[in-house]
Amino acid sequence: KIPIIIDCDPGHDDAMAILWALASPQLEIRAVTTVAGNQTIEKVTVNTIKVLTKACRLDIPVAMGAKQPLVRKLVVGGEVVHGDSGLEGPILPECGFEPSKLTALELLIKTIEESEEKITLVPIGPLTNIAILFIVRPDLKEKIERISIMGGGAYMGNWTPAAEYNIWADPEAAKVVFNSGLPIIMAGLDVTHKAYITREENEILRAQGNEISVFAAELIDYFSRYHYEVEGFPGCTMHDPTAIAALLYPEIFTSVTCNVDVEVSGELTTGMTVVDTIGYKEKIFGEKVDKNTTVLFNVDRKKYVEAFFEAM
Ligand code: BDR
Ligand code: CA
Repeated sequence: KIPIIIDCDPGHDDAMAILWALASPQLEIRAVTTVAGNQTIEKVTVNTIKVLTKACRLDIPVAMGAKQPLVRKLVVGGEVVHGDSGLEGPILPECGFEPSKLTALELLIKTIEESEEKITLVPIGPLTNIAILFIVRPDLKEKIERISIMGGGAYMGNWTPAAEYNIWADPEAAKVVFNSGLPIIMAGLDVTHKAYITREENEILRAQGNEISVFAAELIDYFSRYHYEVEGFPGCTMHDPTAIAALLYPEIFTSVTCNVDVEVSGELTTGMTVVDTIGYKEKIFGEKVDKNTTVLFNVDRKKYVEAFFEAM
């Protein structure tokens, strides 16, 4: 089993990422930490607990993390996409348990320290908590196997033309994480826009008829409105679940391993992930570059959807 910690801001796609990880025998969620992003820290923490309650997993510790980015003001990303609560649409249960008394940072440290194996981090919101962890306890990096991030995009943004929301929301934190020296998988918009579920396919998921498949179909109903109506996509784009799928089914993705850095001071490009697929620095200037990131570009969508439906 791959031991993971999910750092998230649910969010409909965060919820589906959690459900997919829970369903998978190859993954073991050791802890879930929350970060302000799609909604305020209070709201996303409640949502996380409700999703775990819905899945009857009251045993997984949830700790509340950063209420704002490292140096910038919080700009809540989910008002239009995820609604006022951050998880509008499906009827959710009451919280079945309390958040941990530890902060997200404390729970991250404890979980990593106590683990006998190296931990894989799965951040699917702004990278504030993970950056703070690396700043406060750089020694713990040696106990981290890799980081599977939903964020960024080589060729596109969704919050600005250049930047994806999770990276844009806290670019300084993202810069710390991408320059951490740890191997990163980047499930950015290049691939998440290709990992979509159509309305017709969502009816197949609903028809599976169990509580979780119906819940997932309702999450997709709400979340996909924005993708159809505003973004004009052919289906619900499965952003955050792709960071989980990348760990479970690496063979269904195509990728390039190269250097990725984050723009923090651009006039038009703040929060952009600068993805050097061609290797310019090395080829032209002979500079040694850190191929820090495996950037996912494409996915076998049919296999992706099948695997997700089976998990639900
Ligand atoms: C990211 O932003 C949020 O809306 C989603 O939860 C996802 O993590 C996509 O840009
Ligand atoms: Ca998210």
